[in-house]
Amino acid sequence: MSDDTLKRVRTRHFAQAKASGHVITGLTSYDFLTAQIFDAAGIDFLLVGDSAANTVFGYDTTVPVTVDELIPLCRGVVRGVRRALVVADLPFGSYESNADIALATAVRFMKEAGAHAVKIEGGVRSVDQITRITQSGIPVMAHIGFTPQSEHGLGGHVIQGRGASAEALLADARAVEQAGAFAVVLEMVPTELAGQISAELTIPTIGIGAGNGTDGQILVWTDMAGLGSGRVPSFVKQYANLRDTLMSATVAWRDDVQSRAYPDAAHSFSDDS
Ligand code: KIV
Repeated sequence: MSDDTLKRVRTRHFAQAKASGHVITGLTSYDFLTAQIFDAAGIDFLLVGDSAANTVFGYDTTVPVTVDELIPLCRGVVRGVRRALVVADLPFGSYESNADIALATAVRFMKEAGAHAVKIEGGVRSVDQITRITQSGIPVMAHIGFTPQSEHGLGGHVIQGRGASAEALLADARAVEQAGAFAVVLEMVPTELAGQISAELTIPTIGIGAGNGTDGQILVWTDMAGLGSGRVPSFVKQYANLRDTLMSATVAWRDDVQSRAYPDAAHSFSDDS
């Protein structure tokens, strides 16, 4: 899928990637500028995740973020991409009650934000919603294992599918495939089980804290690039320390302004040039 001649990543390319062994890459994105960078870097899909609750709005969990808060972020991401598939996360409370409500929310992300697909948390419990949305022509990425919107119900950030609960996770995976999802995120699942699910399903699995046997990987970009100040999950590898870089630049600018070193002549206008 990283072929430069490919104009736009479509959901069918996810199936092709699984068949060919191309490892699918995804990052979260919440704005135009990062979307442009990740798209140019060849990331296959960008998720306007409800993790924006934490990274953009500063909430403690993903529970409070609303559709109205996420739609403007999604618009910016869609404008920033030329190639990547943009997936919009349906936030907590916007799809669980029934399939009609789920479809109405998905339609808002497609019409008002220009998303290319939506993501829904939950396996067996979300089958009606996934079925209804996909049958209406909107691609759905499912999300099972640790589902952050259920953090309180699950008792915190707990690895899912260990021991006897592996069967339930397998049932979730089979159910979302059967319901029509084009891919499924596996979050915080033991490597062996994630590999087993990936081998059994025909749709690609996208891992986050699920080892390296899945068909693709996703991370929250601010974790991957070291922008945040809080705790980073143990499965995250940081590829930069943007927080330190931005802090140094900010302090240098502040010092230059206060000492009147900036703006200098090179960054000012004179009467004649
Ligand atoms: O919202 C998000 O960032 C997500 C990823 C953790 C997959 O759902």
